[in-house]
Amino acid sequence: MKTLLKGGTVVSGSKAVAADVLMENGTILDVKPGIEEKEADIIDVTGRLLFPGFIDAHTHFDLHVAGTVTADDFESGTKAALAGGTTMIIDFATQYQGESLHQALNNWHKKADGYASCDYGFHLAISDWNHSVSEELDTIVSEGVTSFKLYMTYDEMYMADKKIYQILKRLKEAGGIAGVHCENKGIIEALIEEEKANGNFSVNAHKKTRPAAVEAEAAGRLLKIAQVADCPVIIVHLSSEAGYKEIAYARERGQEVYVETCPQYLIFNEDVYDLPGFEGSKYVISPTIKKESDRQKLWELLKADQIQTVSTDHCSFTTAQKAAGREDFTKIPNGMPGVEARPALVYNFGVKQNGLTVEQMCRMLSENPAKLYGVYPRKGVIAPGSDADLVVFNPDAKWTMSVENQVANVDYCPFEGISVEGKAELVFLKGRLAAENGEVLLEKTGAYVARNKPMVIS
Ligand code: URP
Ligand code: ZN
Ligand code: ZN
Ligand code: ZN
Repeated sequence: MKTLLKGGTVVSGSKAVAADVLMENGTILDVKPGIEEKEADIIDVTGRLLFPGFIDAHTHFDLHVAGTVTADDFESGTKAALAGGTTMIIDFATQYQGESLHQALNNWHKKADGYASCDYGFHLAISDWNHSVSEELDTIVSEGVTSFKLYMTYDEMYMADKKIYQILKRLKEAGGIAGVHCENKGIIEALIEEEKANGNFSVNAHKKTRPAAVEAEAAGRLLKIAQVADCPVIIVHLSSEAGYKEIAYARERGQEVYVETCPQYLIFNEDVYDLPGFEGSKYVISPTIKKESDRQKLWELLKADQIQTVSTDHCSFTTAQKAAGREDFTKIPNGMPGVEARPALVYNFGVKQNGLTVEQMCRMLSENPAKLYGVYPRKGVIAPGSDADLVVFNPDAKWTMSVENQVANVDYCPFEGISVEGKAELVFLKGRLAAENGEVLLEKTGAYVARNKPMVIS
């Protein structure tokens, strides 16, 4: 059966035009004004924006970390994604010490295959770099994992400069790209010791131990390493203006640097760590949420197309899990949910309130991640031949974010009580209606997507 969406505005990264969309068997057949098709199921989408399915390139589902496991696994996390209009996520398959990359990848396939309600791919987080891991890289890339994550902090995953350099060089040969978590491990450890010595074990010590300079130092160092390796890199979850200055400097030198930020850095400022009681623990994430001036700068950078993607770093823990750090902030598991809320948040705070265009929103949430992570034009665009992953977005729908209407498996919503305009009304996954007004209709039909090598984003 064909489906025809009539009367909407089709958004791409470069234009928003009135056009109808015809799809069949999971694929888009035609996109143009005035399509007539008697055989099709016709849906009137007058007044709606049609976005290519949103891609969240930064989730952590079923991640065993900090002595616990994230509240969302692939089953609940991908349902939450679909509910908000995200039709593909890219999660971080994490290599633990002693494992091969293939073992890590197999582990993540076991977590996801058969459970996912949206399409999915994996980045590989490299934690244990050695000769045999280096030898695996070409096959890993040819098998469709073309992006990698490196951490400059965290005990279990920390990568020293020498290894970062070696990995970047090998990735260049193999045709992969690295996204890097930039924070200076040593400074953080020293600041934690200071806070504890002063008797400060509370949530607000979290921000004191991870000031912007911690991110900026690591970003600057990474970018110098990438300069020597002559290799493009992605800086994930950028949170600060100081961090961005290092990126601007590297770009001036002619380096290819891509940047991701997340909704939490665009909506909140560091005051969340001074909320009463233990409320601030809900926002204990790394990098930390920075100052109001950083928040405003990130919006400016998005408007100026200096940041390419907005993903979520969805890494959810319940309030009971967060409570492990009541007496010691370093024991609060780091991370917060967001996969479900991102499209509406970016539309409301970006397009409605901050002067982003819908084309920019399309680039940041769909087209750019599709290009950077090697799934374009199969995804990231509404065009003949592309997967029929598509969001019918109502720009005027007013609603309030709350744990009450949340699909994710978390007992709080970090955006509780925030009223927004804009909602994913109908979400199509490969031509089938998979979610409607925040309710998931189609479960566990998500498929693994093997990815191509990254495309240059201009
Ligand atoms: O606090 C966070 N962001 N936890 C998830 C892991 C990471 O660093 O991306
Ligand atoms: Zn598990
Ligand atoms: Zn990270
Ligand atoms: Zn992350």
